[in-house]
Amino acid sequence: MDNSATQGELEAGRGYEALFVPALFAPWTGHVLDGAGVQDNDHVLDVACGSGVLARDALARSGQSGRVVGIDPAPGMIAAARETEPGIEWVLGSAEALPFDSGSFDCTVSQFGMMFFQDRSKAADEMYRVTKPGGKLATAIWNSIDQNPAYRDIVAVLDEHVSTAAGDAVRVPFCLGNANEVADILSQAGFGDVGFETKTEQATFPSSRTMVEVELRGWLPLFGINLSEEKIADVLIKSDAKLSKYAAPSGEARFQTSAYIMTARKPH
Ligand SMILES: C[S@@+](CC[C@H](N)C(=O)[O-])C[C@H]1O[C@@H](n2cnc3c(N)ncnc32)[C@H](O)[C@@H]1O
Repeated sequence: MDNSATQGELEAGRGYEALFVPALFAPWTGHVLDGAGVQDNDHVLDVACGSGVLARDALARSGQSGRVVGIDPAPGMIAAARETEPGIEWVLGSAEALPFDSGSFDCTVSQFGMMFFQDRSKAADEMYRVTKPGGKLATAIWNSIDQNPAYRDIVAVLDEHVSTAAGDAVRVPFCLGNANEVADILSQAGFGDVGFETKTEQATFPSSRTMVEVELRGWLPLFGINLSEEKIADVLIKSDAKLSKYAAPSGEARFQTSAYIMTARKPH
């Protein structure tokens, strides 16, 4: 795959790292690395690494003699990851075709990526193949949107004031709320000791408007939904009433998020 990102893709990767990582994703890395039991000297693969927050924390745990590799199909994410931490091996590629030898990693981890895999069974087969016999897998997956009320509120605003297609786009990251579905996929790939634990973490966005605006300007266009400036201004006003309950005195939007950490082991 071509490893170069356009300037626009790089800016998008940097934007994700600057906003979404501290707001939503950084609080989860400890749960995933604990689930996989990452320790000193481990060789760790982060699948769907994005801008690399989980891989960076894996490196901190696996130490100087460990090896950490992050893989993601988005060139801008990989470029932003490389810029932030040049000491990790960043690879452009997808979960369904991992370009690594079988049995290369003690731990395979993935944080909030599986919902986007085009072929989850193939990805599970690949994660199984590259994990060493006896090695562990851990993956974080959002619970259903009903367990993530701030996003349920945004979806309600979009359903009512934009379209159900817009609401559906924001529902996508919450589409694997049924942990048993993921457990079945991992078991069918050959993993044993498959289990999960539900966790909650606090998300903190600079404001509720920022949170909604990134959905309108950054996420909906990925689904071919491009709103006019007038419409964006209107939706932001409509969302104020619904999201004001999450406003902290500082103006930040703070709310609880719910996800589960699925763990499994490749048998010896
Ligand atoms: C919500 S982000 C999570 C990124 C990162 N793990 C984190 O915690 O910040 C989802 C990531 O999944 C990646 N992704 C989408 N389809 C993928 C696939 N088929 N294989 C691997 N990664 C994929 C996207 O490019 C994106 O970086």
